[in-house]
Amino acid sequence: MKCTIPRRKRKSRSQDTPSRRWQKETMIKGIFVGTALALELAALGLFIVVKTGAISANADQRTPRIERWAAKTSLRASLQHSGSAAIANPLPATNENLIAGIKLYAQDCAICHAAASGNGSDVAKGLYQDPPQFHREGVEDDPAGIVYWKIAHGMRWTGMPAFGKTLSEKQLWQLTLFLQKMDHLPPVAQRAWRQVHVAAAAQR
Ligand code: HEC
Repeated sequence: MKCTIPRRKRKSRSQDTPSRRWQKETMIKGIFVGTALALELAALGLFIVVKTGAISANADQRTPRIERWAAKTSLRASLQHSGSAAIANPLPATNENLIAGIKLYAQDCAICHAAASGNGSDVAKGLYQDPPQFHREGVEDDPAGIVYWKIAHGMRWTGMPAFGKTLSEKQLWQLTLFLQKMDHLPPVAQRAWRQVHVAAAAQR
């Protein structure tokens, strides 16, 4: 029996006439050129904004929202990527380790993060990212590995320095231990903590 269903016409390559091919090629080229031009204009715009000082370099004004967003988002991503949240403090909470942590804190951290008395220094007040004052807003509840990571690597776009190149791994964990236990120190360590002092803000 003869088939009655009409056969679908096959598209022949020959339909792609030279003029259609030329149209297609021109369109693709146009997309490439347009994208390259848009990227160049964006780069030029950014260059002009930076070069003319529209992004101010002074540290005595509020940080733009976009900078705060970028700093927080990249920190969150870096911490997640590092897998440090799962790492526990390998040091036991002995008086020896705690007091070593307190001494290091007095030497390297109190100028920005304050002592037990809570007097803020001129340095802490002059930073454009407020350093947390640990006697009242501590990190006792944060995972030890995260606290360690922040001390070892520092925090870009803030005044928080990286101590991984200057302190040993043991010293970094001693500091972490002290910060973990700051609000419930045993009496001997508590006395050592009370003795840490920071030069208070100067009077004008
Ligand atoms: C020059 C000032 C400065 C010094 C010195 C400094 N920090 Fe910081 N630190 C900061 C600032 C600013 C931040 C806040 C960053 C932000 O905006 O989140 C910070 C944040 C932190 C955080 C994260 C706090 C949180 O809430 O997650 C920890 C932990 C920390 N510092 C520990 C230390 C330790 C330990 C030392 C000493 C070994 C130290 N810092 C020395 C400025 C400093």
